Amino acid sequence: MFAVMPWFFSVLRRVKPVAKIGNMVLTSRYDDVREVFANDQAFGVVYQPKLDIIMGGEPFFLGMGDTPRYRHDTDVMRKVVVADDLPRLAKEVETRAGAIVASADGRIEVVDALVRRVTFDVLADYFGVPGPVEGDLRVWATRLFEFQFADQVNDPALRAEVDRIGPALRAHIDTTIAQRHNASFKDDVLGRCLERQKAGESGFSDVQIRTALMGFIVGGPPQPPMVVPQAMEQLLRRPRALAEAQSAARADDDERLRRYVFEAMRFDPLAPGLPRVALQDWTIATGTRHATLVTAGTQVLAAFASAMMDPRRVADPKRFDSERPDSDYIHFGHGLHQCFGRHINRATLHLMLKPLLKTHLRRAPGREGRLRKRGAFADRLVVLFE
Ligand code: HEM
Repeated sequence: MFAVMPWFFSVLRRVKPVAKIGNMVLTSRYDDVREVFANDQAFGVVYQPKLDIIMGGEPFFLGMGDTPRYRHDTDVMRKVVVADDLPRLAKEVETRAGAIVASADGRIEVVDALVRRVTFDVLADYFGVPGPVEGDLRVWATRLFEFQFADQVNDPALRAEVDRIGPALRAHIDTTIAQRHNASFKDDVLGRCLERQKAGESGFSDVQIRTALMGFIVGGPPQPPMVVPQAMEQLLRRPRALAEAQSAARADDDERLRRYVFEAMRFDPLAPGLPRVALQDWTIATGTRHATLVTAGTQVLAAFASAMMDPRRVADPKRFDSERPDSDYIHFGHGLHQCFGRHINRATLHLMLKPLLKTHLRRAPGREGRLRKRGAFADRLVVLFE
């Protein structure tokens, strides 16, 4: 289904930019997608019911509208997830990816063995939440992510798993917090939260810390193993772009490398779109010929994958161009709920591939050398290198 999406969206953008499909409205042009994201009072997030199941009823800001509580909770977390950490995170990602490539003996599976491992190792350490003794943080987080964002059919088997994993992850983080109360200070996100709790600052009770850390773990690390291998696959399809990305990697020109990886992501981004619900009647694209009234209660899909291919705003969108302005990209959302980890992403995603790109590489022969997906998730891609 995903393979025909670009064609489907290009038709929609021309013929029916704001398309009503059943009780759902799909926006496909750049301006209309941004309009939906930019007007949170009219188009609210839909995540709260499932978040409640994951979080045991504790509120996490991804599920909130633009309320004082949303502002408070995000401000609080911005005190402990800070820009000063980015160079350290970048270095750790590159070092760990380098160690994995160095020990891989000429053959590497990019999704799990490289990107998922590096992401979870670095971010679990940064957040201060180690893997549980019984269970695997990577599996737990990824299943909860799937339930929250990718389970369109409300699969009962997945729900049963979530009913087990959700409480287990909450209990694991609670145990970690309890242990850290009795340990000496460690400078990670949890350590900083506990310092502020001791100082009596609001927003840092044990349960608030647990909910924020759990939101980060479920909302963050499952995603690089989706988009970074997808970017690698896109580079492998374009020998010239691949060679240029490799030359940037070898020259340690990280900003140039980042541009290649973000541009590659544009051709196969995280998802077709993000869901919203109309909280009031609202006319999308007022003043244009395709102005459309969306009534309160309508489900909306803001197709950011399509927006990034809209020739009205993105110059020559089918061309691979690493020199595009930042405004061409909507990889991490837009408006109120724009990704909390976007600075981390900008500092680290490309470095997960950098050590591999420094080698002489090629696809593995046969099917395993092409990216395989399982539903919305990148699943397997094997690359050979010298
Ligand atoms: C490839 C990596 C990532 C991608 C593609 C990505 C993408 C996104 C997108 C599209 C949204 C907006 C959701 C919406 O508006 O409906 C979002 C929100 C969010 N992301 Fe990320 N993300 C990534 C990594 C991370 C990381 C590493 C963290 C860790 C802190 C993180 C934490 C969050 C949180 C907490 C939100 C909710 C923000 C809010 O409600 O204000 N993400 N992300």
